[in-house]
Amino acid sequence: MDFLKLNENVPLTPTVKVGGIAVFKGFLPVTDQTRIVDDLRYVVGQAPTFSPKTKSGKKMSVQLTAAGEFGWFSDHQGYRYEKRHPTGVSWPEIPSSILSVWGSLAAHAPSPQCCLINYYEEGARMGMHQDRDEASFEWPVVSISLGDDALLRVGGQIKGGKTSSIWLQSGDVAVMGGDARLNFHGIDRIKFKSSNLLKNGGRLNVTLRVVT
Ligand code: SIN
Ligand code: FE2
Repeated sequence: MDFLKLNENVPLTPTVKVGGIAVFKGFLPVTDQTRIVDDLRYVVGQAPTFSPKTKSGKKMSVQLTAAGEFGWFSDHQGYRYEKRHPTGVSWPEIPSSILSVWGSLAAHAPSPQCCLINYYEEGARMGMHQDRDEASFEWPVVSISLGDDALLRVGGQIKGGKTSSIWLQSGDVAVMGGDARLNFHGIDRIKFKSSNLLKNGGRLNVTLRVVT
């Protein structure tokens, strides 16, 4: 079992709430961020990132892969969870460094079954959406930001309503739970090369979910 330092020195109260999403600014010290990135390198080695197409046939600008029992996938048939990577291999196990973030912030919930990894290159973004492919919305989605700054936009449960936004920085952790679990959210843009955590710049976002 690998331990992160976070358990000892970070207060478990959100720094900010944005559209009901709890944001823990600076939750992960740089040593923990580096550790998680190293573990993600192993995951990506086993299960390379890919750019899925949406139902309408548009290629997503983020690249993604996953670890855990399920990975998230999309093509002309729509969004869904899959037990295997597009190449047919099982998804690698969720690294224990990442599981310990869940253990700190979602200890009441069952273990996460999907660790979705999104990579944002220069110019990548993510449109407003709800995370609703899971069987139950009782459990939170825990989201870890690594690398370049990203502008997160959060709305309510109805598309097109009022939104608010916040810049997420490397080491910030956001928790979408309770009344905010189904809030629309998206990434408007990243500030390319604003962080030096990733050698080639860009942003990694890791979300942990209970699927079934
Ligand atoms: C997501 O909604 O899956 C990603 C959010 C983010 O990149 O911070
Ligand atoms: Fe999402």
